[in-house]
Amino acid sequence: MKILSGIQPSGQLHIGNYFGMMQTMISHMETSDLYVFIVDLHAMTSVHDRDRLAAGTLEAAADFLALGLDPERCTFWVQSDVPEVCELTWILSTISPMGLIERCHSYKDKIANGLEPSHGLFSYPVLMAADILLYQADQVPVGQDQKQHLEVARDLAQKFNHFFGETFVVPEPAINKAMATVPGLDGRKMSKSYGNTIPIFLEGKALKKRIMAIETDATPVEAPKDPDKCNLYALLKLFAEPGRLQEVRDLYLNGGAAYGYIKLELFDLLSDYFAGARKKKAEYLADPALLREILKNGAEKARAKAMVTLDLVRQRVGLKY
Ligand code: ADP
Ligand code: TRP
Repeated sequence: MKILSGIQPSGQLHIGNYFGMMQTMISHMETSDLYVFIVDLHAMTSVHDRDRLAAGTLEAAADFLALGLDPERCTFWVQSDVPEVCELTWILSTISPMGLIERCHSYKDKIANGLEPSHGLFSYPVLMAADILLYQADQVPVGQDQKQHLEVARDLAQKFNHFFGETFVVPEPAINKAMATVPGLDGRKMSKSYGNTIPIFLEGKALKKRIMAIETDATPVEAPKDPDKCNLYALLKLFAEPGRLQEVRDLYLNGGAAYGYIKLELFDLLSDYFAGARKKKAEYLADPALLREILKNGAEKARAKAMVTLDLVRQRVGLKY
């Protein structure tokens, strides 16, 4: 089974990205033919700053490797290092119905959040479809927010196959329903665009400051509270051992849960949880030549697959004469 997913290098990766996507992808390394990539071309729909994009790409690579992705046991690369994806995007765009792309809500959401309404932002789902179809992925693990983009990729694969003959695997979305959305400091979904994140590798004072800023209600310590309505508890749940979590749950239900104290406990847990990975990340970032080498090797592997698909596509549509 071929499993593929990408992540944008448009900001520091946060614990929502980790529990929502990265951890799942890393675990698939054991059992699947895994494709993981950093979608720098997609990030260009919101980042127009050379240094930020380049540094963000290397940093996202360091994040994945530090968290346990083994480039020997998967294909790990940067999207733009396989230029075939741009050609396939164009070919797919010629069969993409305007109505289908116009219905995508992420474009409207992003504009509502202040992004410039560019053609790239509008045609983002076509590039994403090309990402998926180029590697003939069977399954694509994504968050709920990407489900509609997966539908576009499926529609385009089916339409292409119908017009030009069987060419693409029609990919299945894999939405992990058991994994609730990780809440941010303010209780909304943790997201770069809301500025409410806890970056995975934050540490020391900066980490403590973020954790102390987790919004909680004004219930007095002695009063009973509902743990399932508290974003501090939802975050603690990701890191605390089951026994300790039950103790805290009882304190919530029976009174006696002090938010300040629980925040300090969360700070310690988070510091420890990522300690090993934090050290590895620093080592990778100190050796950008190694990171580039790993990504270059990954791109070669990915490109070999991409070329086979694109060659077939070119034949099918008549670009081979
Ligand atoms: P952001 O909202 O911070 O911009 P992205 O949209 O780049 O994050 O998401 C990258 C991946 O991480 C996607 O697969 C997405 O579903 C997952 N993800 C992002 N935020 C969360 C969250 N708060 N909880 C669970 N998964 C998340
Ligand atoms: N659009 C996805 C996101 O923002 C990232 C992405 C780009 C992707 N291409 C992909 C995810 C292909 C899965 C497969 O999260």
